[in-house]
Amino acid sequence: MRHSSGRHYTAIPGPSVIPDQVLQAMHRAGPNIYDPQQFELMKGIQSDLKTVAGTRHQLAMYIANGHGAWEAAVANLFSAGDKVLVLATGRFAHGWAAMARSLGVETEIIDFGLRSTIDQQAVHDALKADTAHEYRAVLACHVDTATSVLNDVQALRNTLDDTDHPALLMIDCIASFGCDRFEMDQLRVDVMVAACQKGLMTPPGMGFVFFNDKAAAIRADKSPVSAYWDWTKRSQPDEFYQFFGGTSPTHLLFGLRAALDMILDEGIENVWRRHAVLAAAIAQAINAWGSAGPMELNIQQAAHRSNAVTAIRVGAPDGTRIRDWVETHAGVTLGIGLGMAESNDPEWHGFYRIGHMGHLNHQMVLGMLGSIETALKALNIDHGGGALDAATSALANDQVSGQVSG
Ligand SMILES: Cc1ncc(COP(=O)(O)O)c(C=O)c1O
Repeated sequence: MRHSSGRHYTAIPGPSVIPDQVLQAMHRAGPNIYDPQQFELMKGIQSDLKTVAGTRHQLAMYIANGHGAWEAAVANLFSAGDKVLVLATGRFAHGWAAMARSLGVETEIIDFGLRSTIDQQAVHDALKADTAHEYRAVLACHVDTATSVLNDVQALRNTLDDTDHPALLMIDCIASFGCDRFEMDQLRVDVMVAACQKGLMTPPGMGFVFFNDKAAAIRADKSPVSAYWDWTKRSQPDEFYQFFGGTSPTHLLFGLRAALDMILDEGIENVWRRHAVLAAAIAQAINAWGSAGPMELNIQQAAHRSNAVTAIRVGAPDGTRIRDWVETHAGVTLGIGLGMAESNDPEWHGFYRIGHMGHLNHQMVLGMLGSIETALKALNIDHGGGALDAATSALANDQVSGQVSG
């Protein structure tokens, strides 16, 4: 039986569900972009984004997706021939590295595979071996959306400190921003990139680069950056148009304002906690299904798993079968697996991902889990019982997963 009525739930790991408040805020006529109120709107958004990021430092905002934020961070700091160390725990650090290489930056990559967090000893050894301090920066993802790995940024900061290495610490929080706890200044992260379409619950189109004084000083010493990507005027404009180097993304700003109001009303601590509780319920359900079947969490240890996204292994072709079934029969779209789709490797049909970022509550998670369980029954895929019982118990107990601090 197929159903086309009822509200569809897109549970992919970004773009995330857009709240009605955000949609309604955008549903208005275009403003006069020269109205001083527009400048006040942008200033307020900039300030509130810094609050959510836990930084008193600077923020440059771009009309761009995450790739644009990646490019902006690299373009402002490095020149062709500079070298950076990239720590990969999935797919996205490789993407950032490729972006850096396309700008002539040399990248050295330590790849920790698809099921592990960063091994600090390996980073320690690489930094120690770099006696000439050639690495200008260490680049890593806080959360890799492909694998659902959560990296311990505090541990990474400690490794840089322990080795007395002056490299910048640059973190991609595109998946984790507003979902997994991250406090930029407390972690002494030098540069952080984020985007608006995941934890920030706004349609795609805005990318953010947060940077501290150390990064700003390096930028000041660097040869010119193109006027569009240069973060200097964007972060401290003396004329409103300079926030965006031209026409501002008016309606995204209206939407983002509403989303930030929701986050600040709830309180960022509560937002992080809500994500932790919902992620724990999802993990409990998957463990229960896996107790008598092929399903398993890609990242087993709760402390190493994101609260924004969960990657699941079930064996090919059942990942795709489950996704197809819930999309056509239950009105739920799940994420494809591990970024392998491009590779034509049939194994990629053995994965799926659940995005649980942003505008999410108990009933959405339980409906989504119930839909997956229905698919398992309809498709005769072996699975253990008690998944919804485990999830509802976790929610009833307000249980959280064992996250690291950063
Ligand atoms: C961790 C991470 N980094 C970077 C990106 C790239 O962002 P975008 O697709 O907005 O360019 C994504 C997108 O999913 C991501 O999850």
